[in-house]
Amino acid sequence: MEKLARFGVSLDSELLQRFDAAIEKRGYTSRSEAIRDLIRSDLVEREWEESKEVVGVIMLVYDHHRRQLQEAVTDLQHRHLGEIISTQHVHLDHHNCLEVVIVRGGSGPVRKLAERLQALRGVKHCSLSMSTTGSGIS
Ligand code: NI
Repeated sequence: MEKLARFGVSLDSELLQRFDAAIEKRGYTSRSEAIRDLIRSDLVEREWEESKEVVGVIMLVYDHHRRQLQEAVTDLQHRHLGEIISTQHVHLDHHNCLEVVIVRGGSGPVRKLAERLQALRGVKHCSLSMSTTGSGIS
C-alpha cells in the first residue's frame, strides 16, 4: 500500500462551493479523489511539455475517395513506425473513414505525426488525445 500524506488547503469559500458542485456533478464522492485526478492531469501535461515518453491516441476522419489521401495517410504512418503501436481503420460510410492510431514515444515526434496527419488535404478532423505511460504517476 502506498504511503498517504495529508495536507490542508485554504481557499476562497465561494471557489470551494463551485468546486464541490462541479465534482459532485461528475460523480466524485470525495474531494480527495477529485484533487488527485487534477494533480495527475497536471503531471501528464508536464510529461508532454517536457518531451518525456508519452502515450496517446490520434483520431482522424477523412474521405478515402479524395485523391491520394489514403496513400498519404498510410505513407506518413510508415515514416513514423517508431511511434505507432497500432492502427485501426473503420469504414464509417461510403465515403468516410475513421482511423485510430495508438502512439507511444517522445512527445515531440508524436505531436509532429498528429500535426502532419491533420495538415493533409482532405482530412476532415484530427485530434490527439494525450495520455501517459503510467509509470511515474501513482
Ligand atoms: Ni475506410
